[in-house]
Amino acid sequence: MKMEDSMKKTIKDFDLLNKRVIIRCDLNVPIKDGVILDDNRIRSSVKTIKYAIDNNAKVIILSHLGRVSSEEDKIKNSLYPVSIRLSELLNTKVEFIDETRGHVLENAIENMKPKDVILVQNTRYEDYPDKKESKNDPELGKYWASLGDIFINDAFGTAHRCHASNVGIASILPSGIGFLIEQELKMLGDTLNNPKKPYLVIMGGAKINDKIPVIEKLVTKADYILLGGGIANTFLKAKGMDIKSSVYDKDSISFASNMLKKYEDKIILPIDGYGSNAYQDGLEVSYSDMTNIPDGIMILDIGPKTIKLFSEYINKAKTVFWNGPVGVSEFSNFEYGTKQVCQTLKESGAIVVVGGGDSAAAAIKFGYKDSFSHISTGGGASLEFIEGKTLPGIDIIEEK
Ligand code: 3PG
Repeated sequence: MKMEDSMKKTIKDFDLLNKRVIIRCDLNVPIKDGVILDDNRIRSSVKTIKYAIDNNAKVIILSHLGRVSSEEDKIKNSLYPVSIRLSELLNTKVEFIDETRGHVLENAIENMKPKDVILVQNTRYEDYPDKKESKNDPELGKYWASLGDIFINDAFGTAHRCHASNVGIASILPSGIGFLIEQELKMLGDTLNNPKKPYLVIMGGAKINDKIPVIEKLVTKADYILLGGGIANTFLKAKGMDIKSSVYDKDSISFASNMLKKYEDKIILPIDGYGSNAYQDGLEVSYSDMTNIPDGIMILDIGPKTIKLFSEYINKAKTVFWNGPVGVSEFSNFEYGTKQVCQTLKESGAIVVVGGGDSAAAAIKFGYKDSFSHISTGGGASLEFIEGKTLPGIDIIEEK
């Protein structure tokens, strides 16, 4: 069955009263020196957790954080700071259990009352030394399942993984999805599968390689695809233009040429840009048309003529899917294009769905968090979903 045709059980299909409800969230947020840099994924998880509390469940939250392949990784990737933030956002006590299995965890669950909330330590602690979580070790999935009565998966960002904390538990306990996953499926699925036309796709980001299947899929559905970032450089090069020192992907040139041959009228490329003589912020900025890039310059952002061109398409669009910044938006010298795209999208009145990862981070950083119809919490997961792949973390959930 195709994912878009399935009707998964949701948290609303269960009687949660007095039940031990394990909610798998994706609380994998960037943390530096114990400080959470972007709490969007935590905020997006609150609705389901609140619902479980309001319905008198005993709420046991599981999540991973980062990747763990050493003892040092464990220290760096403790979920403790997340428990503090979660507690603030829920306005309720979140008991943090600093282990992924054992007596402390079992006793804490044993003593829970309805409405209590526990956050268990990073599930990927189980990845060191032998990758039990990431390899979906059956004994680990069984152990975690033994701690609950119902399993709710709300970790959309992790749905493309087949791990013990999602697929392992769901293959044992009665299961459903939470509100976050429900919303992601609605916006990335229903909305983009039946887009109001004209349907516009904006693709950027540094790497083209991992986006090839998505471009191939979207080009047939979209009326136009606007390209920026390293992806655009590869297409410009494939067109035979001299992009000087700009970074492009050699291996994807023939893919780009074929796309341009087949879909010439649909693919819209930048006509001017800003650059520098190294991949670095703070250096002298050069501006030029794409036909006239000075020697030694690498293009790192789109320019005002491109913005004007892109705006004409954006303003006519009824649905937009945006994935990937159109410039190196983490460098203040080259954030212009991505900011302008955000502003134009905001004013366009179109349904705007932003893919997770870098474009979501940029939109939030530039203050556009509440300006769009949907900002996905999934990076790899949202791309795989749009490609039409089955996401194991959702596929395993019971049908209605
Ligand atoms: C993500 O950030 O994309 C998800 O949390 C999944 O993380 P992973 O790529 O480490 O599995």
